[in-house]
Amino acid sequence: MSAATAPRLGQGEAALARPLALGRGVTLAPPVVLAPMEGVTHRVFRDLICDLAGPGGAPGAAWTEFLRVSKVALPVKAIRAELGPPRADVPVGVQLMGTDPGRVAESAVHAVAAGAPMIDLNFGCPAPVVFDKCAGSALLDAPERIEALVGAAARAVDVPVTAKVRLGVRDGSRLAEVLAAVEAAGAAAVTVHARTRDDRYAHPARWDELARARGLTRLPLIGNGDVLDPDDALRMARETGVDGVMIGRGALRDPWVFARVRARLRGAPPPAPGPRDLLAFHARYRDAMARQATPLAVLGQLKQLYRRLDVVLALDEERRRALLRAQTLADLEALVLARCRDAGWTDGWPDGAQDPAGSAQER
Ligand SMILES: Cc1cc2nc3c(=O)[nH]c(=O)nc-3n(C[C@H](O)[C@H](O)[C@H](O)COP(=O)(O)O)c2cc1C
Repeated sequence: MSAATAPRLGQGEAALARPLALGRGVTLAPPVVLAPMEGVTHRVFRDLICDLAGPGGAPGAAWTEFLRVSKVALPVKAIRAELGPPRADVPVGVQLMGTDPGRVAESAVHAVAAGAPMIDLNFGCPAPVVFDKCAGSALLDAPERIEALVGAAARAVDVPVTAKVRLGVRDGSRLAEVLAAVEAAGAAAVTVHARTRDDRYAHPARWDELARARGLTRLPLIGNGDVLDPDDALRMARETGVDGVMIGRGALRDPWVFARVRARLRGAPPPAPGPRDLLAFHARYRDAMARQATPLAVLGQLKQLYRRLDVVLALDEERRRALLRAQTLADLEALVLARCRDAGWTDGWPDGAQDPAGSAQER
C-alpha cells in the first residue's frame, strides 16, 4: 500500500500496527497476543483461535498455559504434547513456572527441543497453592530470584526469553525493582498484567500503572488486563505507551477479537460472525476436544467458553445460567441451537457437524 493510500493511523493504532521484534527471528506481528490461560489455552483452543478468521486474522503470538517445573525438569515429550506441531504463521511460546533456576533453565532447553520459538516465565499466578510454594506472583517480592530465574533461562537457550509479571504482591512499590531484574537478566520483553497479586482478577485493571511501567524499563513492554475489544487495545496502547497488548478473557468473550483488531489496524471492515460461524466454531472445538478428553471434560470446556461468550449469541443471564446447568453435551447443544434459531438462523448445524447432540450422547 502506498503512503498516499495507507489509512491514517492514530497513536494507538500506530503502536500496534508496528511489528514487535523480540530478536532471534521472532516477531510479533501485530503485537496483539493471546494470553496464557490455564485450562483454556491448550492446543485445541489456541489452534481454533489462530485459524478462526482465516489467514491474517490470528493473534500475533500465543503461549501455552503455564507448565509447572517442580522436582525435575519437564521432559521434551511432555512439552511437545502441550505445544503441538509448530505453526508457521504464529509463534507459540512455552510458559514455564518454577523456583529453581537450574531446573527452569533445563526445562527451557527441553522446550526449545520440543519446538518452542520463545519461552515465557510466569511471575503472576496468584493461586494460593502456587503462592504458598513461593512460585508465580510470590516471587514479585524477591526480584533477585526473578533475575536468577530469567537469567538462567536466557543463558541456556538461543530463543527469546520473556517474563510475565503483575504489579506486585500487595502494591506496585517494587515494580521498578522487578522490571530492573527482568531487564538485567537478559529478557527480550516483559508483559505486565496491570493488577497486584492481591487484586487477583478484580476490575478494573490499573492501566495507569502500565504508563508508569513504561517509564521504568527499556524492554519492549506488553500490557495486559481488561482488553476486551479493539477499542480497548488501541486505548491501552495510546494511554500507556505499551508496545504490545495481551488479551486473555477477551478471547473467550469474543473468539474473533484478534481478527477485529487486525481489521481495525488495516482500516478494513470488522468481521461480522453470525450464528453459523459460532456453531462451526463450537462443533470444531467439541470434535477436537472429544479426540482427547472425556465427554464430561468436553462439556466443561464448552461451558467455560459460554460462561464468557458475549458475541453472536448475546446470551441473557437466564439463558447463560441454563447453559451452565446443562448436564450433558446434548442438552447444552440443544440450548445453543435454540438460541441460534432465536437469532434468526434455522438451518441447523453446519456441514460436517450434523446431529451433534445425537453423536454426543453416544460418546
Ligand atoms: C482461567 C485463567 C487461567 C489463567 N492462567 C494463566 C497462566 O497459565 N499463566 C499466566 O501467566 N497467566 C494466566 N492467567 C492470567 C491471564 O494470562 C491474564 O494475565 C489475565 O487474565 C488478565 O488479562 P485479561 O483481563 O485480558 O483476561 C489466567 C487467567 C485466567 C482467567
